[in-house]
Amino acid sequence: MALVSAKEMLEKARDGKYAVGQFNINNLEWTKSILQTAQELNSPVILGVSEGAGKYMTGFKTVANMVSAMIDELKITVPVALHLDHGTYEGCYKCIEAGFSSIMFDGSHFPIEENVAKTKELVAVCNEKGISLEAEVGAIGGEEDGVVGKGECANPDECKKIADLGVTMLAAGIGNIHGKYPADWAGLSFETLEAVKNKVGKMPLVLHGGTGIPTEMIKKAISLGVAKINVNTECQLAFQEATRKYIEEGKDLQGKGFDPRKLLAPGCQAIKETVKEKMEIFGSINKA
Ligand code: 13P
Repeated sequence: MALVSAKEMLEKARDGKYAVGQFNINNLEWTKSILQTAQELNSPVILGVSEGAGKYMTGFKTVANMVSAMIDELKITVPVALHLDHGTYEGCYKCIEAGFSSIMFDGSHFPIEENVAKTKELVAVCNEKGISLEAEVGAIGGEEDGVVGKGECANPDECKKIADLGVTMLAAGIGNIHGKYPADWAGLSFETLEAVKNKVGKMPLVLHGGTGIPTEMIKKAISLGVAKINVNTECQLAFQEATRKYIEEGKDLQGKGFDPRKLLAPGCQAIKETVKEKMEIFGSINKA
């Protein structure tokens, strides 16, 4: 199956009161682990690519071609969207050209008028190409690709301004942050989420910083209109822990040199388990 826009899967999720997981990819092994899990569980899936990860994989064209070829070779039939995560204005155009089926324009750090103008332009381009577009209002806290933001709560009126431009989905800051949550984290602001929901109506909402949010909060967020949840750090931590254990047990050093098929296998298995666990919580299993 070819890459698809995230529009249909997110509208289905919103109506069915579950969320589709966006899992970020960093290399071939991660991509393969996530695709195989989605297929096995019959779940739609969104593969997220940060600009840094795209650069690491030698560019967005490499990523788009790798993912499309992998879907073909692995005979993946569940809906898969390839999505730029926290894209810059320039990055969005590069991904559109490279063949991504979904992009996020993160204009949250611009004054609202500039965020509106750039988002409006991208809505027109994406509509013409059948690509889904995510916009952001209110910076998500924590660190991503070296950029540190402090968790904000979005202004619901600004959310409406951006939603009315015709984006496919909206990420609104509700006190969520990327990476691990600090021990004194105040939790998600459901008050903000409800206020945003009241302003934007049926627009599917996106929850970033999916790592470490308690299950009850995730479920409540889904009941209030969240239809896409992003997870990155949790897969990284799971991969790291499984690899560390494998190396500590001395299994990699058998005098045969580095073999990625062996050394990376426990990490891949850990990613598969993490993705499965998240899909169970998000309710996307058997929703392909
Ligand atoms: P985490 O790294 O906290 O899971 O967040 C991922 C994310 O929101 C990507 O946009």
